[in-house]
Amino acid sequence: MSKQHEVLEKNVGLMAILIAVVVSIGGIVEIVPLIFSAQAADPAPGVVPDPPLVFAGRDIYVREGCYNCHSQMVRPFRAETERYGPFAVAGEFVYDRPFQWGSKRTGPDLARVGGRYSDDWHRIHLLDPRDVVPESNMPAYPWLAERELDPLQIQRHMRGHRRLGVPYTDADLADAVTATADKTELDALIAYLQSLTAPTAATELTQR
Ligand code: HEC
Repeated sequence: MSKQHEVLEKNVGLMAILIAVVVSIGGIVEIVPLIFSAQAADPAPGVVPDPPLVFAGRDIYVREGCYNCHSQMVRPFRAETERYGPFAVAGEFVYDRPFQWGSKRTGPDLARVGGRYSDDWHRIHLLDPRDVVPESNMPAYPWLAERELDPLQIQRHMRGHRRLGVPYTDADLADAVTATADKTELDALIAYLQSLTAPTAATELTQR
């Protein structure tokens, strides 16, 4: 072992600092270009901000912790695209705050689940998964059907997202109250699940 290396390996503080420096360089090289990359920062063709009911459903998805068992990120591998559909592209997540990529797949990926089942299937499945998938170990969410949405709260939250750069118009905000009135949390969550489809860009890339 060379002398310099010995100094390094016997000095934990110095080692920690140098590791931090090396890791930071790796981080900067990966992250900084993305901030300036149009491909990552601009919406992919066909990607629009979530309409109010979908927006509300997304909040419920986050609140209930669905991301603990479900990812929303189809990786560019054959096994993934055959099972789930077109792989994910950066531009489809620009309005996702916070993103729902997830890192755990106790259940299947949900990024392309929109349209795969009927609304009624989702209704039964969310109230008790075992009613449609007998071997399922997904929890039941019966309270969703009993709780009504709070339209004004959703409108306020959408306004907050507009401040962060999501291009909601005044008409969108006005529409938020009527679109979510008299709806349950279950209605919203199902609308959200049905909205999870591949943008045109992802479909074209996968078919290439
Ligand atoms: C403890 C882990 C767990 C949690 C939490 C969970 N799920 Fe699941 N989910 C599963 C498993 C396992 C399956 C596969 C069996 C089935 O279809 O029920 C599944 C299946 C699904 C499916 C069908 C997917 C397909 O392609 O067939 C949907 C939709 C779904 N979950 C939505 C949700 C939503 C919405 C939530 C939050 C309200 C949620 N899940 C929370 C484990 C979970």
